[in-house]
Order: sequence, then structure tokens, then C-alpha cells
Amino acid sequence: MAAGPALVASELRKTYGRIVAVESLDLEVAAGTVLGFLGPNGAGKTTAIRMLTTILPADGGSFTVAGVPHSRPAKIRRRVGVLPESAGYPPAQSGEEWLCYHAELYGHSRADARRTARRLLADVGLAERGSTLISAYSRGMKQRLGIARALVNDPDVVFLDEPALGLDPMGQAQVLELIGGIARERGATVLLSTHVLADVEQVCDRVVILNRGKIVAEGTVAEVVRKAAAARHGRVRVPPEQVERALTALAGTDVLAHGQGRGALGELELSLPAGVEVETAATTAISRLIAAGVPVLGFSLDGGRLSDAFLAVTEDA
Ligand SMILES: Nc1ncnc2c1ncn2[C@@H]1O[C@H](COP(=O)(O)OP(=O)(O)O)[C@@H](O)[C@H]1O
Ligand SMILES: [Mg+2]
Repeated sequence: MAAGPALVASELRKTYGRIVAVESLDLEVAAGTVLGFLGPNGAGKTTAIRMLTTILPADGGSFTVAGVPHSRPAKIRRRVGVLPESAGYPPAQSGEEWLCYHAELYGHSRADARRTARRLLADVGLAERGSTLISAYSRGMKQRLGIARALVNDPDVVFLDEPALGLDPMGQAQVLELIGGIARERGATVLLSTHVLADVEQVCDRVVILNRGKIVAEGTVAEVVRKAAAARHGRVRVPPEQVERALTALAGTDVLAHGQGRGALGELELSLPAGVEVETAATTAISRLIAAGVPVLGFSLDGGRLSDAFLAVTEDA
């Protein structure tokens, strides 16, 4: 693939009547990235994917996929692989027959299509089940077959819309491992839409969080957690007789503290100020305590996980 971003979108927009499904979406995804495309139901993930894969015309904005401009949809379609949100599978075909059919659609000869189908079945852990009718596949097997189908044209950019949805933990783990492999072994770029945060933390290099058609956070998982300022509450443990002194020591800072001694345990609850890096606020609080001669017996921050950040940026204002 040519150097440059695998995916660029600029002010991409789609409305359904009065519903703004996607509002001015800007994206730039480097080649080889596994991008987590996160958001609650109705955030606009599927609509964005349908536009970027040229299934649905945009109302405004522009995009390129693998360097191909949106004005050349047929060319884009040859460069992308898609696992749609509710993929349908022909029950009366075997997995191998169905993959062969799709490989032939992309111009493979019959023999070549069969080779491709067998290789992909092996890649997704279905080598032994290729001749089984799809109607006998479990949901997890169908999702893996759908991912194999998305790879049939050796795409530069793979769009997977909620691939782990409805799978049991075992099925989810298999699908996620597969997705990691697509980027690593094929050098493809993957856009993984999901509302399952654990998926993103496990396989994604970067994450975009959508809410009501707009990006509300983006970056690496660590950056998003930090920017969303999820960890806003913490706890310090001090000797119970030191609680008052600790409160006095913190009184001059912008860390709000309240606390009490309970038996052998003194505990202060801290609220860290918004707009200050969590690490900075926490460090300030602890150094104040130490400077005041208060022994710090324990310190913990709530949150600090992607799930907290997700809630912080998607909850209704
Ligand atoms: N075909 C459609 N007709 C009308 N409204 C739609 C249609 N598809 C999606 N929407 C609306 O657009 C918004 C975004 O939907 P969608 O892209 O499916 O979000 P997500 O995939 O993040 O759940 C929602 O409010 C949804 O109800
Ligand atoms: Mg969707």
C-alpha cells in the first residue's frame, strides 16, 4: 500500500430526517493501526462504517480509503473488507463454498478461489469445518467465517462492525485474537466497532469514542483514559489520630478532602480538581501530607480504566 494514512475522513456527515446520525466526522488512521471505534448504541458507528465502505452515500464531507478518494467507490470497494453489523449467511452452503463464491466474485479462478478459501478457513480456525453447512455453525463460527470473507480480496483496510457481539467469552477471545493477527500478519488497517470496552483495551492501538454522531475522545487507550479525566476520586490511608492533621495539610490545596478515623483506620477521601493532570494532583496531595509529617499508609485512585473514561464522555450532560 502507498505510504500515508489508510483512512482519512473530513467533515463526514449523515442525517436521517431530523436525526443527525454522523455529524462532521474527522478521522485520520495510520496504516497498520487497529482502531477501536467505540460508542453506545445509536452513536453513529454503523452509519460511519457504511459511508466509509461506500454502501451509504454521505450527505457531506469527504474521505479517502487506502489513498482512494470517495469519488471512486468501486475502487474503494476493491481495497476494503467488511464484516457488516448484521451479516447474513446462506444456510444451505458450506463455509468453503461460500468463501469460494466470494473469491470468484473478486476474479479468482475456480482453483485459486478454492485455495484462498481453504487458507482463510485455516486462518480463522475453521479448517476442519469448511465442508460443514453454515446452518450448523455456531454464532462464533459464523462471525469467524464473516471475518474470513472480509479478507478474501486481501484488503488494505478491514471494517468489522461489532464482531464480538453476542459471542460467549470463548468466542470473543477467539475473534479478538484473530483481529490482532489481521493487523500483525497482513499489515492491514482494522477499524473495529464495538461497545465492549475490554475488546478495545485488549487489541486496539488507538481508540475513537463516538457519542451522538460526534467524536468525544480519541487517542491511545492511555491518552483517552487520561484526557477523559476518569480518575477524579482517590483515597489516602493515614493513622487514625493523624486525620485532622492531614485535613489541615490539604486545606491549602485544590484537592478537596474529607475524612474520618474509624477504629484503627484513618481514611481520607479525595476529590481531585478537574483540569489538572491526575498524576500532578495526586502527587501534590501526597507530598503535602509527607511534608506535614503525616505517614501515608496507602493511596488509591478510583477509575483510570477505559470503562470510566467511556462513561465520563458519553453520559448525558
Ligand atoms: N436507516 C435509518 N433510518 C433512520 N435512522 C437511522 C437509520 N440508521 C440509523 N439511524 C439512526 O442513526 C443513529 C445512528 O445509528 P447507528 O449508526 O446504527 O449507530 P450505532 O451503530 O453506533 O449503534 C441512531 O439514532 C439511529 O437510530
Ligand atoms: Mg451499529
